[in-house]
This record gives sequence, structure tokens and C-alpha cells, in this order.
Amino acid sequence: MTKIIILGAIGSMGSLVSKLALEDKQINVVAAVDVNKIGNELGSLVGVEDPNKIKISDAKKLQQIVNDTKPDVAVDFSTAKATEINCLTCVKSKIKCVIGTTGLSQEFLSEFEKQVKSLKVPAVISSNMATGVNIFFKIASIITNYVKDWDIEVIEAHHNRKVDSPSGTALTVGKVIAEALGVKYDTVAKYGRAFGPNKRQVGAKSEIGIHAIRAGDIVGDHLVLFAGPGERIELKHQVHSRNALATGAIKAIKFLAEAKESKIYSMQEVLGIK
Ligand SMILES: NC(=O)c1ccc[n+]([C@@H]2O[C@H](COP(=O)([O-])OP(=O)(O)OC[C@H]3O[C@@H](n4cnc5c(N)ncnc54)[C@H](O)[C@@H]3O)[C@@H](O)[C@H]2O)c1
Repeated sequence: MTKIIILGAIGSMGSLVSKLALEDKQINVVAAVDVNKIGNELGSLVGVEDPNKIKISDAKKLQQIVNDTKPDVAVDFSTAKATEINCLTCVKSKIKCVIGTTGLSQEFLSEFEKQVKSLKVPAVISSNMATGVNIFFKIASIITNYVKDWDIEVIEAHHNRKVDSPSGTALTVGKVIAEALGVKYDTVAKYGRAFGPNKRQVGAKSEIGIHAIRAGDIVGDHLVLFAGPGERIELKHQVHSRNALATGAIKAIKFLAEAKESKIYSMQEVLGIK
């Protein structure tokens, strides 16, 4: 059985991952960490019978918790600031990390990758763990290959509580498109268009528009618009339920338990979509 620690255990995503992990016969939840509901039983918070009666532990005591419980894998859906501290603690303690949190800084990603390689502790980082969205990335890349001179725009919509914008998934699909075009993403990404004269540079090799909508309780919609002369293709992915994402996290935990290479795996590698 794979021993796991859940970071951000009682958030929207953390609760679902906790529920699925507690119900999974191949996974043993040895610790659950958050900054809220400390001391409460995880099972009763997420509505599952937990024979081990794991209680929510205080994130401030993470080092002690990992020393005591010795998890194989950490799964983190919290905040960028929390992940950057907690997952460095975990990787340095030789715990394999599944990171779902978005909005992570480049500094953290570089330092984390350095630790993964030097300590030989594989990890998975993915802005979107749903199976369908990872197929969507692949199809976006294939379409781009055929329409390199068209205009390409990414439009995403999420709930009104989302902190980062644009979404990690929109950034990923933007990078996938840039890679297929053979251009550097940072030089072509155009985030929204402000009021006033704002003419588009024609062709995705010069500009990829990325637009974020925040409204209501939308779980996560992504649309890629490929527009050419007289026609367009719209490639759309919509998440109806966070279960699609939480199920992906469970797949990543199981994949990582067996993974041997000292690298950060993508969700496409976890799902065998390459
Ligand atoms: N990769 C994916 O598939 C995917 C899917 C959905 C959301 N996300 C991302 O996951 C993250 C969490 O999303 P959410 O909707 O569950 O948010 P949320 O606000 O509902 O949950 C975050 C949880 O983290 C906890 N937390 C805060 N500081 C902490 C700390 N120092 N240590 C441990 N826990 C701490 C909070 O108390 C809360 O319970 C966001 O970055 C979001 O963009 C990723």
C-alpha cells in the first residue's frame, strides 16, 4: 500500500482527493495537513469511514509529521505560497510529490526540480489532472501544426473564488501551442486586451491571446479558437465535476509510487498520452 500525506486536505480539491484516497484499497492515508479544522477527523469531514481516524494536523508542524508518519507520496492542492514551502519540505525528506496547486513561481519550480534530480525523488506537477484536458492539450498541438499562420486565442472561465489568472491550464495550453509553432511562449502571450486601440498582431507566431473570465461557480472551461481566412475551429474542454480532477490525482499518486526516473513527470505521461 502507498502511504500518503494530503496537503490542503480540507479544501475543495483536497476534500475530494481525501475521500477517494480513504476509499482506495491501494492507498493508506497516514497524515492530512491544513491550516483549518486542525484536530478534526478527516473521515468525518469528508464523509467517509476512516478506521485509522486520521486527524487534521497543523501545516506549521509538517517536518515533524513527515518524520513521524514517513509517507511515500505527498499530494498537494493548497495555495501557491503553501505549496512552495510544504513541497520543498517533502522532497527534501525524500517524499514523492503530486502537485496540483497552480500559480507556482518560476523560482520555486527551478529549486524543486533541482531537489528532484539531486535527491532522485520523482514528482508529478500538473495544472489540470483531468484525463480529457490532457487529451485536449494533445489535440491543440496537432491542430496548431496544420494552421501555423492562423490566429489562435485561448479563453478560459472559472469560479469567482479562483486566485490566479489566467488559469494554469490556459498557460499550459498556450505553451503547448507555442511549442508546436516553434516560438517562445513568453514573447507571444498577450494577456487580455485593455480598453483602447489594441490591434492584434496577425498570426499566432506573433501573438497568442489568453483571456480569463471569473464568474459564479464555473468549475473550469477552456476554449482554443483557431481562426483562419473565412473559417475557424473551436476546441473546447469543460469540467463538470471536480471528481474528474481528483480522480486524476489518485492516478498520479499510484503512478508515482512505481516511478523510478528522477524527474518531474507530466500528467500526459501519467495517463500515457504522448
Ligand atoms: N491540478 C488540478 O487539476 C487542479 C484542479 C483544481 C484546482 N487546482 C488548484 O489547486 C489549488 C487549490 O484549489 P481549491 O479549489 O481546492 O482551493 P481551496 O481554497 O478550496 O483549498 C485550499 C486549501 O489549502 C489550505 N491551506 C492554506 N494554507 C495551507 C498551508 N500552509 N498548508 C496546508 N494547507 C493550506 C486551505 O485551508 C484550504 O483548505 C489551487 O491552486 C487551484 O488552482 C488544481
